[in-house]
Amino acid sequence: IKSSKALAPTKVTLFGEHAVVYGKPALVLSIPVYVEVETERADEFSLESGPVSLNKLSLIIEEDEVRLSGEARGEVLRYFSYILESLNIIGIRDVRIRISSPLPVGAGLGTSAAVTVGTIAAASKLNDMSLTKEKIAELAWEVEKRVQGRASPMDTSASALGGALLIRRDGEKWIREKITINEVPLVIGLFKKRWTTGELVARVAKRLTEYPFLNEIIEVIGDLTMEALNALESGDLAKVGELMNVNHGLLESLGVVTKEIAEAVHAVRMAGALGAKVSGAGGGGAVVALGDNVDEISAAFKAVGAERVLVIRRLSRGVEVR
Ligand code: PMV
Repeated sequence: IKSSKALAPTKVTLFGEHAVVYGKPALVLSIPVYVEVETERADEFSLESGPVSLNKLSLIIEEDEVRLSGEARGEVLRYFSYILESLNIIGIRDVRIRISSPLPVGAGLGTSAAVTVGTIAAASKLNDMSLTKEKIAELAWEVEKRVQGRASPMDTSASALGGALLIRRDGEKWIREKITINEVPLVIGLFKKRWTTGELVARVAKRLTEYPFLNEIIEVIGDLTMEALNALESGDLAKVGELMNVNHGLLESLGVVTKEIAEAVHAVRMAGALGAKVSGAGGGGAVVALGDNVDEISAAFKAVGAERVLVIRRLSRGVEVR
């Protein structure tokens, strides 16, 4: 095979972010907004993504540390380590690789996991390996751990396997369950992220240390995530929406909701959403709203300054390779 292409979906967290760090369950949906990764056999490594191309730069490999010479700006650099580690794990280096992402990195929708899953899927095809989606999920999680030091398998599993997943940590072990739903009417608004995920996780940890009784909030988020799972499986969207609102209030009390995000949540509720909450780490980033009246919800998101609005109904089926 000379070239291959993978489409790797992104994700949205519907319930349980932050509490998942403390072992509670989180509910994540794989959405049909795809990062596209194309690989082609070549004489040397090169990478292109949007307007930025890295083929004029050279890689410096010193004492196991990979750096780039020269100047390069743009989103592609944020992806760079994920791509390189993904190629390493597949055992292939001399490829021309092209990444197109419809979403900005760090929006909380799992773009770096999708880049990782897509690169592993496309590069393994190029190397005549036939990997199951499960195996791709496992390798992609390994890559995320190598790049980030630690990572939950939430984003990589959602991108590789697709659908809806319930995920929770039991000591060192992660438990992942596939949920049988194919559709959820969602509108997602994206806002500028003002703090990093690391800062937000640290902020929650500090608050819980300062006021240990707030650990009850983590417990309650865990309970409402399980209740929401039942509601979702039985098609009770009104209840799912109500629980999203409760989850949002609890996240706000943990200190991860900015004024802009709080205003967006209220604006889409006023526009008729069944429920709305911050999604992912917070501090800006994504807001997810549930409801069928997508035009009103989208308009409300735009009116409060959302940079992007995504309308979702069907969930993705996971990574696809061509
Ligand atoms: O914003 P994201 O998609 O990076 O989500 C972070 C989710 C947290 O629960 C806040 C952190 C984590 O590692 O699970």
